[in-house]
Amino acid sequence: MIVIGIDLGTTNSAVGYVDGDEARIIPNDRGARLTPSVVSITAAGEILVGDSAKNQAVVHADRTVSHVKRCMGEATHLHLGSRRLLPEEVSAEILRKLKKDAEIYLGNEVGKAVITVPANFGEAQRKATIEAGRLAGLEVLRILNEPTAAALSYAWRHPEAKRLTVYDLGGGTFDVTCLEKTDTEYLVRSSCGENKLGGLDFDSLLRDELLKHFEKEYGFVASTDSIVLQQLSEMVERAKIELSSRESAAIALPFMGTGGQPLHLSYEARRDIFDQLIAPMIERSLKLTVQAIKESGFSRVDALVLAGGSSRIPLVQRRLGELLGLKPSGGVNPDEVVALGAALYGNMLADEQRHSGNGRRGLRDVTSYTLGVEIDAGKVAHLVRRNTPLPVDARRIVTTVADMQESVEVHVLQGEGPDVTSNRSLGRFMLSGITPARRGAARIEVSFLIDEDGIVRVSAVDTKSGRREHVTVRPVKDEQQDDAHSISDRLESLSRRIRSEMKDLVVPQELLEDIQDLLLYSDKVRSSGEESALREAEIALESIIEELISIREDIEDSSREHA
Ligand SMILES: Nc1ncnc2c1ncn2[C@@H]1O[C@H](COP(=O)(O)OP(=O)(O)OP(=O)(O)O)[C@@H](O)[C@H]1O
Ligand SMILES: [Mg+2]
Repeated sequence: MIVIGIDLGTTNSAVGYVDGDEARIIPNDRGARLTPSVVSITAAGEILVGDSAKNQAVVHADRTVSHVKRCMGEATHLHLGSRRLLPEEVSAEILRKLKKDAEIYLGNEVGKAVITVPANFGEAQRKATIEAGRLAGLEVLRILNEPTAAALSYAWRHPEAKRLTVYDLGGGTFDVTCLEKTDTEYLVRSSCGENKLGGLDFDSLLRDELLKHFEKEYGFVASTDSIVLQQLSEMVERAKIELSSRESAAIALPFMGTGGQPLHLSYEARRDIFDQLIAPMIERSLKLTVQAIKESGFSRVDALVLAGGSSRIPLVQRRLGELLGLKPSGGVNPDEVVALGAALYGNMLADEQRHSGNGRRGLRDVTSYTLGVEIDAGKVAHLVRRNTPLPVDARRIVTTVADMQESVEVHVLQGEGPDVTSNRSLGRFMLSGITPARRGAARIEVSFLIDEDGIVRVSAVDTKSGRREHVTVRPVKDEQQDDAHSISDRLESLSRRIRSEMKDLVVPQELLEDIQDLLLYSDKVRSSGEESALREAEIALESIIEELISIREDIEDSSREHA
């Protein structure tokens, strides 16, 4: 069975597969090698994805969703006509289209995929991406970091390059990764990035500049009309791309109606002005690049691989040269290199499943976050440092702060800062049933396990009583032991746990239905024994438990208020 590699981009997506020894791009049904990540719905309720959706975006902005990747993992609904969809549901539409086009091109069914995400995507965003794959009918073998995929693709064809730096500047995100190739595996040495830095931001800067000019020259104030704005955005993007190969580009908007007479607006975009506008952002990306190289410990860099459409901007290439003395390595198509790497990796995984099924993956990635828990007085204890190789198993003992304390709250945080306020809260859960003792006597072990998809599982156990009842997730003790059997066991206990949690709880009808479906699904998956389906079911069950716990906490809070 063929495994496809999918670069699910903010603006464009691409699909690759491995043919013999070569990774290739799969063109879509129009013959294009990139598919716009745009979804829309027609008046008749038909879902359009890609170029057709993008083409009607101007006239039907209200029925179109673009850049869904920027809100992956958020619990917001997006409006697609009269439908309200979660970001993962919108992404699933894109994936479904990519899968279908791949099947038509390959003349074969496609069931498995490796999907790439920005290196500094957080846990919720990764989970949402896996969920999108599942909804689209794909078994997601692995979530792979985009720059890692790009490095893999380059390294595959250039065995002599041992130390690679990937600079990936796309439509929505910036990532930089240093990867080292040894005789047996690829090791990611460091990785950093910014989630909201990319071509879209450059478009906005140029658009603002253009509107300023229009206002000064013609007294034209852009309406909030979505058609006008969409049209402007497209023209601005086209001009921006033009500026990568020319010093200036003309933007003309004839017949702009502003109530009275039609206006003919025109603007000459100039590269030097554009460079000034984007320079602060480019400098930010360069600073991160310097940091990544420093953290990698590389004494020199053998290859600089550029990925992402925005890496074509001449200022980017010039500044990389000036600052780092590095010239981009040739023979790389920045639009395609990520999907090709994902395909190569998918193929590696499939090979291993065929041959041995053991844990050797030939590729070791790193976490891109520092994670910790809140300890006494708003301070944070960091358990996992950035750039720790995956999978991670980090533990720490915490204790009680009051005499006879029977429960503790574990507050999971992300960030480098020393106190809670400078970190991001990722969630919290209660561990109760602790053996009562004097303050400071209890020993509660908090552990962080991060799997190779970058999914974080946090648990807490009271070492005295052995209680781990109220943990949100159950840890995977050891990679080797984490076979289908043990996941299946965990599913069973998670299901039991959910049933008992629900006993004395009033659960909203909608959630109740979801839970019942999920429990049925989980039983089905357990009898199938399919490992990745088991893992997905586990994640889903765990999040249900989280939800039930928060419902219980809300009830407890409000009854305390009423008391
Ligand atoms: N020649 C060019 N010069 C400048 N910008 C370009 C050029 N070609 C493409 N772009 C920009 O690159 C961006 C798209 O790049 P790409 O397809 O790599 O992003 P993506 O994969 O969708 O986004 P991300 O990786 O951030 O999720 C767009 O903003 C586009 O305007
Ligand atoms: Mg990309």
